[in-house]
Amino acid sequence: MLKDKKILLIISGGISAYKSLELIRLIKKNNGSVTCILTKGGEQFITPLSVSSLSGNKVYCDLWSLTDEAEMGHIRLSRENDLIVVAPASADIIAKMAHGIADDIASTTLLATNKNIIIVPAMNPEMWNNTATQENIKTLINRGVKLVGPEKGEMACGETGLGRMSEPEDILTSIKDFFFDKPLKNINALVTAGPTYEPIDPVRFIGNRSSGIQGYEIAKALEQAGANVTLVSGPANLNSPKNVKTIHIETAQDMLNACISALPVQICICSAAVSDWKPQHQSSQKIKKEESSKSPSLSFIQTPDILNTISNHKSKRPDLVIGFAAETQNIEAHAQSKLEKKGCDWILANYVGKDDLGNERAFGSNENQIYFVTDKKMETWKRQAKSIIARKLVKKIIEHINDKKVQDKQWNL
Ligand code: C5P
Repeated sequence: MLKDKKILLIISGGISAYKSLELIRLIKKNNGSVTCILTKGGEQFITPLSVSSLSGNKVYCDLWSLTDEAEMGHIRLSRENDLIVVAPASADIIAKMAHGIADDIASTTLLATNKNIIIVPAMNPEMWNNTATQENIKTLINRGVKLVGPEKGEMACGETGLGRMSEPEDILTSIKDFFFDKPLKNINALVTAGPTYEPIDPVRFIGNRSSGIQGYEIAKALEQAGANVTLVSGPANLNSPKNVKTIHIETAQDMLNACISALPVQICICSAAVSDWKPQHQSSQKIKKEESSKSPSLSFIQTPDILNTISNHKSKRPDLVIGFAAETQNIEAHAQSKLEKKGCDWILANYVGKDDLGNERAFGSNENQIYFVTDKKMETWKRQAKSIIARKLVKKIIEHINDKKVQDKQWNL
């Protein structure tokens, strides 16, 4: 995704400098090239050797290096890269940037550059909140510098507050955002995920083994493409994705209500494993085994079909409605007939249950194999990480909406 992109990473002094090593690894993994400047402060926390080993490039530490400056090192560094990222950005380097101080290779390069700069502050919360730092930050933002973080949390110094450096994954996302347009910006998307629980009594329910991973990954991938995402999730042991409005529900009826309230949207993806039935009667008290010699019997009624309701909504049908089909046999035929029965546009079908080795094929697994079915075609997507399936699906959505092909590499596929 970052192929042919050259990033200059300036690592200043701070305990979170160790996270910058992970950032270097992530940039490289995304095919970007990264050259690093390590300030004297940075060198107190990580070594030039680890930085150069990971980046695969020479590390610049000294403004007065005869060999580097013979080629005007700081000017060259400031020009030949596409983007400068300062992570961690200490209060000191932020102050130097704001005031045009150039007394080492990092600050001199920052003053000499004509390229965009992202700063990722990391410092003690009092230092961050200090008026001097806040005014410096304001100055830099007004000059067009992009700010990532800082985050709230416990600091290495033991204090808690705003000042932690953002996680490398989040910094990488900001770098990608800088280079690539958000193809789904201004698009509203609704995703359902996880199982539903249909109560029998206050302690028991009918549910299923869905983990919600696939739906959460789809919500994440849509958000990364710039969509404004609402995720309606049944009980799932997962963190809500960043910048996604997550609504937690338990029953199919609650899921339907939340989805209808989220309309209108342009894209709806129903990946939830909604209970098809619920107990006809729900006991308001716990059913006690002592009260009857017989075991209780349950009768069931159907739950509302959310995918069907949204696909056939009279006034607010989304432009693109995508369903899932969890099957144990005849997957292609079932997927085709589900497409028609539900009135949705695409179906992603997957086998559920255990494989020959006794491993779950989809539920709870981080991987999935998909049959992608539309009224025109059927594609088989090999077994791979659910995060990649999510990105593949989002790429299809982008191509559908923009009516043109998207490069695989742009979606890290
Ligand atoms: O009918 P079946 O459960 O096999 O259909 C699966 C698809 O329908 C999935 O996309 C699922 O999210 C959706 N569904 C729904 N509401 C239901 C049952 C299924 O939205 N009550």
